[in-house]
Amino acid sequence: MPISFDSERKIFKLDTATSSYIIEIYEQNYLIHLYYGAKIPDTNLKNHKFLMNWFGSVSPQNINIEDRRFSPDVCTFEYPCEGTGDFRSSAFSIRNADGNNATDLRYVSHKIYPGKPRIDGLPSLHVNTDSDADTLEILTEDAVTGIRAILYYTVFNNYGAMTRFVKVINASDRPADIERVFSSCVDFNTNEFDMITLYGDWLKERTFERAPLGRKKQGVSSKRGSSSHAQNPFGAIVGRNTTEENGDAYGFNLVYSGNFEFSAEVDAHGASRVLMGINPDAFGWHLEPGEEFSSPETVMVYSSDGLGGMSRIFHRLYTNHLIRGKWAHIKRPLLINNWEATGMDFTGDKLVTFAERAKEIGIDMLVMDDGWFGKRDDDTSSLGDWQVNEEKLGGPLKDFIARINALGIKFGIWYEPEMVSHDSNLYREHPDWCIHVPGREKSIARQQYVLDWSRKEVRDYIYEMMKKVIGENKIDYVKWDYNRCITEAGSPALPPERQKEVFHRFILGTYEIMDRLTVDFPDLLLENCSSGGGRFDPGTLYFSPQIWCSDNTDPIDRIDIQFGTSLCYPASVMGAHVSASTRAGFETKGNVALWGTFGYELDPNTFTPDDIELIKEQVSEYHKYYDLIRSGDLYRLISPWENDRRVAWMFVSEDKEEALLTSVVMRKPHDNAFFLRLRGLDPEKYYVDDTSGEVYSGALLMNAGISLTNYSNNDGDSFKIYFHTL
Ligand code: DGJ
Repeated sequence: MPISFDSERKIFKLDTATSSYIIEIYEQNYLIHLYYGAKIPDTNLKNHKFLMNWFGSVSPQNINIEDRRFSPDVCTFEYPCEGTGDFRSSAFSIRNADGNNATDLRYVSHKIYPGKPRIDGLPSLHVNTDSDADTLEILTEDAVTGIRAILYYTVFNNYGAMTRFVKVINASDRPADIERVFSSCVDFNTNEFDMITLYGDWLKERTFERAPLGRKKQGVSSKRGSSSHAQNPFGAIVGRNTTEENGDAYGFNLVYSGNFEFSAEVDAHGASRVLMGINPDAFGWHLEPGEEFSSPETVMVYSSDGLGGMSRIFHRLYTNHLIRGKWAHIKRPLLINNWEATGMDFTGDKLVTFAERAKEIGIDMLVMDDGWFGKRDDDTSSLGDWQVNEEKLGGPLKDFIARINALGIKFGIWYEPEMVSHDSNLYREHPDWCIHVPGREKSIARQQYVLDWSRKEVRDYIYEMMKKVIGENKIDYVKWDYNRCITEAGSPALPPERQKEVFHRFILGTYEIMDRLTVDFPDLLLENCSSGGGRFDPGTLYFSPQIWCSDNTDPIDRIDIQFGTSLCYPASVMGAHVSASTRAGFETKGNVALWGTFGYELDPNTFTPDDIELIKEQVSEYHKYYDLIRSGDLYRLISPWENDRRVAWMFVSEDKEEALLTSVVMRKPHDNAFFLRLRGLDPEKYYVDDTSGEVYSGALLMNAGISLTNYSNNDGDSFKIYFHTL
């Protein structure tokens, strides 16, 4: 049983494929967290909740509990609240109608059942059949205010993964205001950990950082309105000695595209509290009697096989239980996008030449990026005016697409649905439709504002325009872009007590429109983008099976970005294109882009005959390795955060019958005697190097390794080797 309840000892045990998670209902119905870590068979952990001997003048007590070691100040809690004796960061804080935040959620009842519930209005992992997962719901209540919270835990039976979210119910007869509602809280009774997070910026998204936990609060967050370039809603807590392939690694990833916080607080006694959820700094939610609020979901993965083991669990889990729809498991079209080649300076005729060249080299789809609508020839105008610029395209969109399709090429189009340009008919007609605080100057970014998607009429207006264009034309793909942060987060349509809801309501609005789009057009392939990879998160992935990784398409810079992204996101979702960047040749650009969705982002009219031969070869490799890369296991052999000169990674098929090794020289290495030990192969099997014909045992490749002296070591060089069994 993945989830069991010992009714005598009042202990819940949740077992994933790799981990156990244990909760006790203690005296007075306190919900105490006892354990999260490598799988254990038993639950004799009752002393784990007492982290110190009692010292009454410092740590408050419960008058009804005799054991003086129990204090909310030092116990490990399942879902700690504000103001009743636990002085660490709380997971939940709600201001009641009397104006104070004192809350004490205690156990009331629970349910265990097969399957997994959906979360209203929010993306979440899904089950394919009820046997994929089991769920525990624990109902808790604050006896004084009548506020309730249901804690949801879902265990994925075949993965080392579980998910958590919380539903708050105002079961009282007076209003209340949620101020913090974290999706998950894990109290560990040790601090022998490092924290790993992914920081970044435009052009350098998801850069790896590892730092020891100190006796303080530390973490990352966003309050930009999106998950952001600056930090990703992913964090790992790993043992001090954890490496790529060994040691404890706990990964936390929030299925949410808005403001988040991931933090760890180590208290004076050396225990650590790890929180993941909506950033309370930019959030509030008003609950009238009877109203409910659901938090987004945290995905929690545990592996004792280090960071690599953790990543591989995330990859399989997301491939099978996050990404939905037609494109989740079928081959995606190989595309060429015109953005880096033309910007907005294109015509229909010019794009037709792109499609002609594309056809010659085996590309499946042309994507027309920004600049096809209104009078948009630069980024100062027209967002919100989603009418086709027929003059630019040389006629109606239908006719233009027909010219592309006649070449045997599919067609994709760009949108930035949540935005309105200052210079647009939409803004002139409805200046109050953007997020703003009346009477306060609106900050502008890229000459645009963010539409107030907390308002249904605004969402409907934009969606109807999109639906018309997409419905009336043969559009196979949409690139959904999002190019600024939210400032002055107010909505004149909401009363003062609901103003702090704007950020979350905006994200709910985005999810509603993505949902409508993918339901109305089930064959459409949706790719998200946000000035590159500024909204690369599981919330977005739920709707779009691929996300543009970064506007930085330089293959050497991309290595950092792709390695960082791979900590929790699979290759199949990483938008990666070969571009005109010059720091490496076509071969390396192709080798790096093969790790992602693969495609081209340059003017195909500039290709020389030699380029064409090479690109044709790349296209055939894309097809040859498609399944191996998208459904194989990733091994990061040499990461740029360990070695800034030479990197290597490999994909191994699930049955270990084939593997693809890739290595890139970022900067000329010092080490000539370099043997690369492969991983993930079957030691008993024999593998053929497809290029040289040499045969090696898996054991040899993983222990002795292969010598890199045969390969060129100049900046930007790369090679790959395909191995298959005899
Ligand atoms: C930002 C994206 O990241 C680019 O790929 C491109 O679509 C531009 N926006 C268009 O404005």
